[in-house]
Amino acid sequence: MGSRSFAAVLLRWFAQYGRELPWRGIGDPYGIWVSEVILQQTRIDQGRDYWLRFMERFPTVEALAGASEDEVLRLWQGLGYYSRARNMHAAARQIVEQGGFPRTIEGLRALKGVGDYTAAAVGSMAFNIPAAAVDGNVYRVLARHYGIDVPINTTRGKHLFEALARDLLPESQASAFNQAMMDFGATWCTPRSPRCGDCPFAETCDALRTGRVELLPVKDKKLKVRERRMTYIYLRCQGMTALRRRPAGDIWQGLWEPLLVEDGPLPELGCPLTLLASGVKHVLTHRVLMADFYLAEPDERPGLPPEYVWIDEKALDSYAVPRLVEKLLELL
Ligand code: ADE
Repeated sequence: MGSRSFAAVLLRWFAQYGRELPWRGIGDPYGIWVSEVILQQTRIDQGRDYWLRFMERFPTVEALAGASEDEVLRLWQGLGYYSRARNMHAAARQIVEQGGFPRTIEGLRALKGVGDYTAAAVGSMAFNIPAAAVDGNVYRVLARHYGIDVPINTTRGKHLFEALARDLLPESQASAFNQAMMDFGATWCTPRSPRCGDCPFAETCDALRTGRVELLPVKDKKLKVRERRMTYIYLRCQGMTALRRRPAGDIWQGLWEPLLVEDGPLPELGCPLTLLASGVKHVLTHRVLMADFYLAEPDERPGLPPEYVWIDEKALDSYAVPRLVEKLLELL
């Protein structure tokens, strides 16, 4: 399907089924921007009420810039993702300092918290700049209609879908086109149970023709968080214990830890090991750790791997240790 007819079909659908939203057609870049920031992580029904209240309290970008951060955050209460509100407040001050709302994509993009999507959304709806605002709805509509199975969460996918959206966008109707894509994706071409039965694109939709509506768009699976197994042995010998400082290039750089075994057999320390705890789960941002803790109390100091030093147990408090090691120390 050519780009002309795609836009024509979409805009005809929009004229009949487009949603009525309070910020539509106001032409005020400030109000449009506020709506986009609110809708980034909030459903439209909830977002509408917040938008109305927000605009009543801060009707202009000057009013927002003049407010205290506390008051902005109070008005935002319940919406979550409070960095949105903080960024928006900071951007309002940027705008006032600049002497007005930026009227180019680059100018919008330079505002705090404004990325490609928001810049294109505000630029097109407020100034009719022909920029495609590509959000999750747009990915879904295009992936299905054009049968594209390139994962949408890859750089290649992002570039491909942005180029396609830009290609389909009619130069003089960017505002209507972008909003039509959002509404169509949100109300017709929905993630589950889309309305293919009365879809204006039923004749041309590749996914419908090939039975892949439920399979598109494709997302690359996040790499499963890998588990890392660690065994810590707390050595106690004549009031001393052995620690090392963790090296660079790994988690917990610079923190201290007892004898660590990550693979291979447990070391021979000249005494039996007492199990303190096993399978202690510790979740980091990109990894899950599973730890076993042992206590070893030999009569004589065993040899240690390089890097380890003996320290007085009474001085343990002055060594910074990872939270996981703290858990071990609490068991002693
Ligand atoms: N979601 C985000 N922005 C939107 C808009 N302007 N219209 C409809 N849905 C949206």
